[in-house]
Amino acid sequence: MAARPVLRTAVRAVRVLPQSGPSRSCSSSRHVRLFSTTPRSFKSPSDHATSTSSSTDRTTHFGFEDGISEAEKTERVAGVFHSVAESYDRMNDLMSFGVHRLWKDHFVSSLNPGSSSSIPPKPQHILDIAGGTGDIAFRMLHNAHTIHRNTSVHVTISDINPSMLAVGKQRSLSLPPSQQSALSFLPADATALPASILPNSIDLYTVAFGIRNFANIPLALREAYRVLKPGGVFACLEFSKVENPVLDAVYKRWSFSGIPLIGQLVAGDRDSYQYLVESIERFPSQGEFRDMIVDAGFVVGGDGYENLTGGVAAIHKGMKPLDG
Ligand SMILES: C[S@@+](CC[C@H](N)C(=O)[O-])C[C@H]1O[C@@H](n2cnc3c(N)ncnc32)[C@H](O)[C@@H]1O
Repeated sequence: MAARPVLRTAVRAVRVLPQSGPSRSCSSSRHVRLFSTTPRSFKSPSDHATSTSSSTDRTTHFGFEDGISEAEKTERVAGVFHSVAESYDRMNDLMSFGVHRLWKDHFVSSLNPGSSSSIPPKPQHILDIAGGTGDIAFRMLHNAHTIHRNTSVHVTISDINPSMLAVGKQRSLSLPPSQQSALSFLPADATALPASILPNSIDLYTVAFGIRNFANIPLALREAYRVLKPGGVFACLEFSKVENPVLDAVYKRWSFSGIPLIGQLVAGDRDSYQYLVESIERFPSQGEFRDMIVDAGFVVGGDGYENLTGGVAAIHKGMKPLDG
């Protein structure tokens, strides 16, 4: 695969991507040195062939259906999340037996927002893309404001779906006032971020269980790269491929029979949950997705991902080079 040499170079150059937040990593002279030169075979986003075709011409898939235009996928995904918005949080607990909470806790603590050692702490702008009902953003604010007593962290929850954002807004009313004022909501498509998010303006871009729904994942990765500051971090939590065949068989059986049934019984919507299960199956493997992140211009450390629960989910991280 074309990305392999890039990855190997990155892996040789970078021992570990920071676990404690982008601001700390960027201030480290070790990282300045490691990231200040462009890895061999590095492709800047502008090197990518830009397609002149539009989202109505380019095709993708929707669950197991192929040959769907990107525009139609976006519209159908919007329909799914409009339909599930009210039951989304309850269904997440039922479908994952509450484990999604542990994954999200781990994701946020691995990024550790607000932990900057600089005094006073640097303001940090986090963009939580496909933020939905706010699970990641609220944890980010809790980590920064409550654990680190760092109120200079601001989180923008962005989502294409107004129904999901409306549930998130309602939930945010129970946050402490200081956290509410450090939060904003932005309706936006991750594949075409609005001009209000300036290039090179974001310290940390997060996306949890959202990216598999995007009609054009490479385009969304390029948008992430564009809006992140040099040294900024892209972090993704997403369903992935289970590595143990026995666990995989059990998991697939549960996914394809249990989840649509629960969707039907609890939310009265079998089809949306059937799509969610199929979209998980269609999402690239850990290694393939890591290569897409590298292709978008990010530098990754180690394997570039961390498996959770044997690969049921995985965390991927990439850093925009300091000269990016
Ligand atoms: C499974 S939910 C995840 C919500 C939240 N991040 C969480 O972890 O609970 C997926 C979200 O992706 C959003 N989404 C789908 N396509 C999108 C796009 N092109 N741009 C932005 N958000 C999108 C949906 O509206 C939905 O809120």
